[in-house]
Amino acid sequence: MPDLAELRVAARAARENAYARYSHFTVGAAVETTDGRRFTGANIENASYGLAICAERTAVFAAVLAGAREIAAVAVTGPDGVTTPPCGACRQVLAEFGTPDVPLTYARADGSWSDTTLGALLPVAFDAASLDAVRGNG
Ligand code: THU
Repeated sequence: MPDLAELRVAARAARENAYARYSHFTVGAAVETTDGRRFTGANIENASYGLAICAERTAVFAAVLAGAREIAAVAVTGPDGVTTPPCGACRQVLAEFGTPDVPLTYARADGSWSDTTLGALLPVAFDAASLDAVRGNG
């Protein structure tokens, strides 16, 4: 079972490395994979604003690069005093590598954490099954 408390600490630490020069909105994320490894990420912005990438996606991509394919738990934290659930794009990316029952914990403005699941954050996700349905038909 993933230790969400430890994952929250890892997300907080990762936030220290955010590169949020333009928004000043620093985010940290931590992902535990089903093989028990942990990967962290932070948002990285760019002078070409649209090229910014979120903390959750840098964490997921680090996990995938290291050979992992299955997420077991996720933690996300933003600046102190701000509730920071994952954005829609990150929900889609998380859904690619995590089943709907995977727990996700995000920091709330009052300093507490809200615990939810990938399925609750993105119900009826568009996924590989939809594409598989037409494979070979084109
Ligand atoms: N951001 C994240 O890192 N994760 C989210 O889920 C929401 C937004 C980042 C992107 C950008 O660098 C900054 O927060 C402001 O949108």
